[in-house]
Amino acid sequence: MTTGWVVVTGASTGIGRACALRLAARGIPVLAGVRSDGDGQRLLEAAGEAKDCLVPLRLDVTDATSIAQAATEVAERLDGAPLLGLVNNAGIALGGLQEFMPHAVWQRQFDVNVFGVINTTRALLPLLLAAKGRVVNISSVGGIIASPFMGPYHASKFAVEAITAGLRMELRPFGVWAACVEPGAVKTEIWRKADTLIDELKRELSPEALQRYRAGLAAMEHFTADAAKRGVSPDAVAKRVEHALLAPRPRARYLVGTDAHLMVLFHWLLPTRWFEAIVAKLTARA
Ligand SMILES: NC(=O)c1ccc[n+]([C@@H]2O[C@H](COP(=O)([O-])OP(=O)(O)OC[C@H]3O[C@@H](n4cnc5c(N)ncnc54)[C@H](OP(=O)(O)O)[C@@H]3O)[C@@H](O)[C@H]2O)c1
Repeated sequence: MTTGWVVVTGASTGIGRACALRLAARGIPVLAGVRSDGDGQRLLEAAGEAKDCLVPLRLDVTDATSIAQAATEVAERLDGAPLLGLVNNAGIALGGLQEFMPHAVWQRQFDVNVFGVINTTRALLPLLLAAKGRVVNISSVGGIIASPFMGPYHASKFAVEAITAGLRMELRPFGVWAACVEPGAVKTEIWRKADTLIDELKRELSPEALQRYRAGLAAMEHFTADAAKRGVSPDAVAKRVEHALLAPRPRARYLVGTDAHLMVLFHWLLPTRWFEAIVAKLTARA
């Protein structure tokens, strides 16, 4: 067993769950963020023999009290052992039509994906500094390239990219490294949740708005269904997270999946107008 612990936020499902299970299976003790005791129990059951390396940690990253309590619990659990890393994984994906999007949607998206990352990191930073630990933020290829109808999500991940780069440069002199993991599509619950959101959106729109954005809404539905089908496994992302946490020379960013690599390549090669014309064409075809 290694000497230090890792905290993973949002470990009930998807990528966070895969990270917690992978690290625990390697003998690395994990404090796994969950929002209910039931989710903690299910995670322990899934860990099998590795369950001795897993401790569910109640943590809602949008709640200041919950973050403060979790930070205290982490310090108590560690009992002087080092905090090797924090994986800021908890996230939601909100999209819609910017013309009709209420402030509350932007706020909710940023509360979880941006302020959740900032506040959780700050709360655990004394332990990370003491251990020269690492911060691994689960961003997205959507933090490098934006697409239509997912404005809040992309904006939140662009913010995570900037926060991570700034943090890395600020803390590097003190031995703390910060990295972004940038997956393309991953097969997780997030896409089913996004589908529910599109249904809600359609119910709320006026008939004129529905008519005007018919193609866009169909594209959103197509995008979420497609991502859910063709995505890589959550464990493929967890593998890169493991590298970012444990490799002697971690990278600043980890693109995951062929789609993510191709998108970045085309985005880099093509003039913006051409790239966006292709995105528009793909969107119109959906
Ligand atoms: N799936 C993809 O294609 C993809 C691609 C690129 C990046 N990502 C990123 O990967 C991360 C994980 O997403 P996923 O795909 O694994 O989705 P997921 O299966 O829906 O998992 C999201 C996790 O975040 C937790 N969470 C949500 N709100 C929270 C809050 N306020 N406090 C604490 N935990 C909260 C959820 O907990 P509950 O179960 O309690 O809601 C869940 O454990 C996200 O940051 C996402 O943006 C995903």
